[in-house]
Amino acid sequence: MDRFIIEGGKKLKGSVRVSGSKNAALPIISAAILGSGKTVIHNIPNVKDIRTLVKILEYMGASVRFSNNTMEIDPSGIDRFTAPYEFVSTMRGSICLLGPLLAKYREAKFSMPGGCVIGTRPIDLHIKGLKKLGVDITIEEGYIVGKARKLKGTTVFLGGNFGSSVLATANVMSAAALAEGETIIEFASCEPEIVDLARFLKKMGAKIYGEGSHCIRIEGVKKLNGVEYSIIPDRIEAGTYVLAGCITSSAITIENFIPSHLLSFLDKIEETGIPFKTGTDFLKINNITSRWKPVDIVTLPYPGFPTDLQAQMTAFLTLADGISTVTEKVFPERFIHIGELNRLGANITLDGPKAIIKGVNKLIGAKTMASDLRASAAIVLAALAAEGETEVSRIYHLDRGYEKFEEKLNGLGANIRRIR
Ligand code: UD1
Repeated sequence: MDRFIIEGGKKLKGSVRVSGSKNAALPIISAAILGSGKTVIHNIPNVKDIRTLVKILEYMGASVRFSNNTMEIDPSGIDRFTAPYEFVSTMRGSICLLGPLLAKYREAKFSMPGGCVIGTRPIDLHIKGLKKLGVDITIEEGYIVGKARKLKGTTVFLGGNFGSSVLATANVMSAAALAEGETIIEFASCEPEIVDLARFLKKMGAKIYGEGSHCIRIEGVKKLNGVEYSIIPDRIEAGTYVLAGCITSSAITIENFIPSHLLSFLDKIEETGIPFKTGTDFLKINNITSRWKPVDIVTLPYPGFPTDLQAQMTAFLTLADGISTVTEKVFPERFIHIGELNRLGANITLDGPKAIIKGVNKLIGAKTMASDLRASAAIVLAALAAEGETEVSRIYHLDRGYEKFEEKLNGLGANIRRIR
C-alpha cells in the first residue's frame, strides 16, 4: 500500500489549478446512460472513484473511453443491469447509477452500499423516492432489486433526519427526467453538484425547473439525447488547497475555483482573520502575518458549511490562537481524523458530534494512518505545517478523490514523497 513521507514546515508559493468536481462527475456520468446516443464529458478528474464507476459501466456493457480528463460514454451496449458488491463496496457513490438504470431499463440489481468509516449511511431516501416513482423495490441477498413497468411522476419529500440527501436527489431527479408526467422533489438538495447535474440533463433534453432550490420540478420527457458537457470545478478540492495555504501561512493562488460555491467556508476563513481576495474564478491568499483566530463551525447541507471540508478545517484550527468548536450535523460520527491529528500534537476532544479544538503553538511530525478521503487530506494539511517528518499510510483513500494531490502540492513547494 502506498504511503506519503511529508517533510513539514515548508512555505508554499505560486498557484495551483483545481480539477473538475468528482461529486458532480459521478451522477453526471451515471446520467449519461439515459441518452439515446454517445455523450462526451470534459473536465472529469482522473481519480479512483471515477475509474471504479467506469468499471461498473463497462461491466454493464457500456463502452467508455477516458483520456485527458475527457470521457466518451456509449450506453448502447448495456445489457446487464447489475452493480456487484466488489465495486459498490469500494465506492458508495456508485449508488447514483440506480436512478438512471431504473429510468432507462426499468430494472436494476444493485449491491447495498453498507456502512463506511464516516457512519452507517442509510439509503432509505433513495428507495423512498424511487418507489414513489413507481419502482417495485425489494432487498434480496444484500442487493436492492428494482423493477418497474413504467415510471410515473409524483410529489416526493426527500428530507431525512440529517436534512436533504445529495445523491437521493440526483437519483430521483435523473429518474424523473424520463418518467411520465410531472415530479416535484420537496426538500431537494441544492448543492452546486445537483445544479450541474440538472444543467447536464437539461442539455440532454430534460425539462427541469428550480434546481438550486429545495423544490425541483421535473416534467418527464420520452427521450434524452447524448450531448457534450463540461463539469464544474471541484469546490472541495479548492477548499483543501485554500486550507493548505492558510495552515502553512503561505500566499498562494487557487485557480479554476468558483468562490460562490463555497461562501459559507470563505465566510469562516474571513472570520479567522486570514487575508484573501477572490475573483470570479480564483482565490488569492495574501500575506499572513499572525496566528489566526478560533471559530465555531457547524456543518450543514448546502449552502451551509460542507461536511467534506470539516476534517481539513479542523486540521487548520489546531493551530488557531484559542479554542474552536466544530459540530458535525451531516455525518455526526465523522471524526476519525481527530486521533491522528492528536498524534501530531493537536489538542482535540470530542463531545458527541462536537469537536473542541484547543489551538496549540506547533504540530510535530509523526506516523499516521489515513482512514477516509477527507480525513486523509486533513492529516496531509497538518503534516505540511508540522515540524519534521510525517508518514501517512493507506493513502489509497486520497487517490479516490484528489487528482495528482502530491504533485499539485509539491508544485507549490511542499515536500511530499510517495513510497510505493
Ligand atoms: C454526498 C457526497 C459526499 C458528501 C455528502 C454530504 C457524492 C458522491 N458524495 O454523499 O461527499 O459528504 O453528499 O454533503 O456526491 N441519509 C439518510 N438516508 C438516505 C441518504 C442519506 O438518512 O437515504 C443521510 C446521511 O446518512 C447523511 C445525510 O443524509 O447523514 C446526508 O447524506 P447524503 O447527502 O445522502 O450524502 P451522499 O449523497 O451519499
